[in-house]
Amino acid sequence: MKSSNPLIGRDIVSIADLNKDEIRAILDQAGRFEQQLQQGQRLSLLNGRILATVFYEPSTRTRLSFESAMHRLGGSVISVAEAKTSSSAAKGESIYDSGRMLEGYADVIVQRHPAVGSARALADAASVPVINAGDGTGEHPTQALLDLYTIEREKGTLDGLTVAMVGDLKHGRTVHSLAKALAHWKARLILCAPKALAMPAELIAGLRNQGLIVIETENMNAALAQADVVYVTRIQQERFETVEEYMRYKGVYVITEQAVRSAKPGLVVMHPLPRVDEIGTDVDALPNAAYFRQARYGVFVRMALLAMVLGAVE
Ligand code: NCD
Repeated sequence: MKSSNPLIGRDIVSIADLNKDEIRAILDQAGRFEQQLQQGQRLSLLNGRILATVFYEPSTRTRLSFESAMHRLGGSVISVAEAKTSSSAAKGESIYDSGRMLEGYADVIVQRHPAVGSARALADAASVPVINAGDGTGEHPTQALLDLYTIEREKGTLDGLTVAMVGDLKHGRTVHSLAKALAHWKARLILCAPKALAMPAELIAGLRNQGLIVIETENMNAALAQADVVYVTRIQQERFETVEEYMRYKGVYVITEQAVRSAKPGLVVMHPLPRVDEIGTDVDALPNAAYFRQARYGVFVRMALLAMVLGAVE
């Protein structure tokens, strides 16, 4: 019988590499894994398989949830947590050489790197599947998938929603990937950022071409009054030239308990984390606060991705 798994052997570099049916298949598989874990099942689909995680930029959730996902499927993990300083890249090794080497050590590679295009470069070099865990200000496709999973779990659907994105939409790679993904569901997108941190114009033009309604504003409360989901992002300090420039924008938008109470009822508050000060801790106790659930869902979605690219599910 022909397998219906569309991801066998594939790289996941950009969310645009996946069509709507493929995204649907990943979310459905993640749902099955969530249910199986809930029932206390121990899974061994990836027994004997090895994941390499190679991170040239800081990470807590993405790396740990990929590693947790691999372990939950019975696989093993090898890892360079601080690849920038502790791997041979510090000695000048190229991404190409790193890929040719890693393909001999692992069955799948997850990489995070500060340069846009670095994931594609690794995928071109390595014969095993490569998953992009963030390439600079470029993309973060697996975060977008877990964000979709979260929206669907919280709202019951991905159709016809108004999603507000707030914060540093210029440098934030998670919003770049999520906006592209939402275009499949004809959502309405409200982009709320200081002018200097607006989402890149070419990206917005591309979204509109795909039929997404995109509204730009600098007024957070006006955005919250209409939104079903608000996706809050950190001002990406590491992407600024100077601390002074960063300080100009730090704290520009802060979601407080009061702001949530004045928003559209049922507002779902999401954040890829880490949070600095853009969501008050007084929001955490509200049922609207979905960000810690969102982080947990990342494990199920990454289990689905690993099992699918490695051909362990039909
Ligand atoms: C994000 C990232 O690394 O892009 N974090 C994550 O993966 N959850 C968001 C961020 O760093 O602000």
